[in-house]
Formats: sequence, structure tokens, C-alpha cells
Amino acid sequence: QSAVYRSGVYGHRPVVPVHPDALEDAARRRMTARGWAYIGGGAGLERTLAANREAFTRHRVVPRLMVDVAERSLTTTLFGRELPAPLLLAPVGALELAVRGGPAAAEPAVARAARELGVPVVISSQSSTALETTATTLGDSPRWFQLYWSKDDDVAASFVQRAEAAGADALVVTLDTHVLGWRPRDLDLAYLPFARGEGIAQYTSDPAFRRLAAARAGGPASTVDDVAPQRPTLAAVRALLTMRRHGATRTDVETFLDVFSRTTLTWADLRHLRETTTLPIVVKGVQHPDDARRALDHGADGIVVSNHGGRQIDNAVASLDALPAVAAAVDGRAPVLFDSGIRTGADVFVALALGADAVLLGRPWVYGLTLAGQAGVRAVVENVLAELDLTMALAGVRSVAEIGPANLHGHDRPV
Ligand code: FNR
Repeated sequence: QSAVYRSGVYGHRPVVPVHPDALEDAARRRMTARGWAYIGGGAGLERTLAANREAFTRHRVVPRLMVDVAERSLTTTLFGRELPAPLLLAPVGALELAVRGGPAAAEPAVARAARELGVPVVISSQSSTALETTATTLGDSPRWFQLYWSKDDDVAASFVQRAEAAGADALVVTLDTHVLGWRPRDLDLAYLPFARGEGIAQYTSDPAFRRLAAARAGGPASTVDDVAPQRPTLAAVRALLTMRRHGATRTDVETFLDVFSRTTLTWADLRHLRETTTLPIVVKGVQHPDDARRALDHGADGIVVSNHGGRQIDNAVASLDALPAVAAAVDGRAPVLFDSGIRTGADVFVALALGADAVLLGRPWVYGLTLAGQAGVRAVVENVLAELDLTMALAGVRSVAEIGPANLHGHDRPV
């Protein structure tokens, strides 16, 4: 933390803007229109995207005096592994939309930054690099794998096996995206995420998926071929070129769109998944205390309180507002992680005070990637952690475990 200040005092400009709004602005200017729509945008009128941040303004930290805080620690243990801080990089798919250099400039830079920091990265099912490649870049550094539960049993099982083989410490099963939310920014640009091959490397590198795609390639003409215009438009040619750059064919994309999601899932299915792996299963997307209880009853080992960064239901409850009741329902039986709306270290402090054991950071690290690659991701995370550390010092707290409701105004009356 003092290092961050000292480098400023000696005139070194920060690697990326420190203020989260300036960071977002600068990244938006650097991205393509499609990139910004997909990454910065949310569902509907983006009310929940805004509400996720607004919710933090309703909780105030109470400063405390004369506590010896010379020795402080951010270390946190999750599923038996000690982590440097209560923070993970949230899973983000189609990451090459954030950068100009394509997939090669995206995931490898993030993995190297995560490795330098020792902070776990949650590898997305929708990433643009095969998870085995990312795992190699990560070395011994912690990684979790995020699963979108494919409609095809073999593909789902294959992803789980690959995650185990790639050394994942946990399997994050995202359950709030069985259909994609209504996203006007993408729709206005006629952009269907993944339809040009972005973010499907996890599939095209998968043996079970390859078998599916091969079977289809030998079958009748695909729907895209059926509706393809006689004289292709410039946009259609561009889409094909993008696919080729990803090593994906139209058949791959169509097979992916067919098997991506399983809308028939119920809690009973979680029990079956539980039987297929020894990895801790963390259910992502919980906003209701009953869903948290059911997840645990059906074999989940952890919960992520998340509304997918305001990308799924517009007018959905702010994720922070959902946190206290979910944490109360879990009642210490399993780790509770939180995301959606975290922009600063003070935000992390508030989420921990309201019952989270750790947080996932989403868009901010992506903006760091856009602006300065590996160094940008690292700088964003370091800034958030520096502010968390400072906030702890000023609130009279020495460790993450000490942070609780008593640090917030309204809960601070003497007992
Ligand atoms: C996401 N998120 C996401 N979640 C997931 O489980 N799998 C995924 O592939 C993705 N992909 C993705 C892409 C982009 C561009 C964004 C912005 C988000 C959701 C993500 O993990 C996390 O829940 C939110 O980003 C958290 O909200 P904030 O921190 O962005 O406000």
C-alpha cells in the first residue's frame, strides 16, 4: 500500500487509472463498439447494473481508533488452500473482445498476472483459450474452473474431467445463465456473443464436443447454410473470418449454440454432478436464501452470491442487497463468495462485513487488461487490495476474519 503511494509521490504515473470510473472510461475508449457493448453492458435498461453499485452507497464503515494495526493480513483460506487475499478473478468469457490482439493477447496475460499475484483465476467455460493452455501458464498458481452445464452429458462430463486434470481447486457451476439475458447493446449491434467463434475454444478443444460437431458436419446442411444469403454481405464475410481466426467452423458454432445450455436443470441434477467429481462444487448466481439452502442440501460446497454483473435480469435485486439473507441461510456451513458491483477495496470490505468470505472481481480487471495487458490486470487488483488493506487499518481490523457487521454503521451500537 505504501508502495502505491510512494510511486505516486515520486511522479510515476499509475499503470492504469486508479479511479474506477476513469478506468472504465479509458477502457471503453480503447475497445471496439462490440467489445464495449458486450463487456460494459448489462441486461435491459441496465438498472441492475447500476443498482449493484448503488447498493454499496447505503452501507458505511465506522472508523476505529487506537487499535494496534501494525501487523495486518489479508490471507484467506478457501477449500483448504491459503490465498493471499479474499479475492478471485471472476470468470469472464470471450475475453478477446477486450483487447485488440485477439485470444493470444487475452487469457495468457490474465494468467500471468494472476500467477504474479497468487490470486486465483476462475477459468471460464467461455474462454477463448483452451483451459489446458491457461493451466500451463498458471504453473502452481491456484485456478478454479467455471462450468456452464452443457445440454450434452458427454461435453459436461468432459469439461469436469479436464478441470480436474488441469489442477482446478474447485468447480464453479454457474446456474443463472441457462438462457442469455436480454442485452439491448449487443442486439443493436446485431451481435450474438459466441456466434462468430469468440469464447468457444473450450468447446472446439474438447474431444466430446469434436465428436458431436463431426457427426453434424456429415449430416444435412446446417441452418446457417440454409439461410446464408446468395451474395454474402460484408458482415457475413467478417464473421467467417473471425471464426477462421478462432479455428472454428460454422458447424462448430452451431453445435455450440445447440449444446451450450440446459434449461431442464433442477436441484436433483446437482446431486448427479456431485457424484461425478471430488472437486468442491461452488454454485454461482444465488440471490435467494432458499436457493442457497437447496444448493447445500444437494451437495454444493460453496455459494457465489451474484447476479452476473447485472447481465441477466434487469430490475433484479442488487447483489449486495441479496447477500445478508443468503449468508444467514448458509450460516457458516460453507464459504459464501460475492460478486456484482465490486469496484474498490472499500466495497470488498463492505461485502465481507455483510457476510461474504471472499469476493470475485469482474469488469475492473478486464478494463485493466484492455489498457495495459498483464500489467494492467495486476495494477487493478493491487489497487483494490491496497485500499482494502488501508480500510482495514482505519477500521481497526487486523485480519479478514475480524471483519463483520460491527464495522458498519447501524450495527455499531455498544452491546
Ligand atoms: C461475465 N460473467 C461470467 N460469469 C460466468 O460464470 N461465466 C462467464 O463466462 C462469464 N462471462 C462474463 C463476461 C463478461 C464480459 C462479464 C462482464 C461478466 C460474470 C462474472 O463472472 C461476474 O459475475 C460479474 O462480472 C461480476 O460483476 P462485476 O464485478 O462485473 O460488476
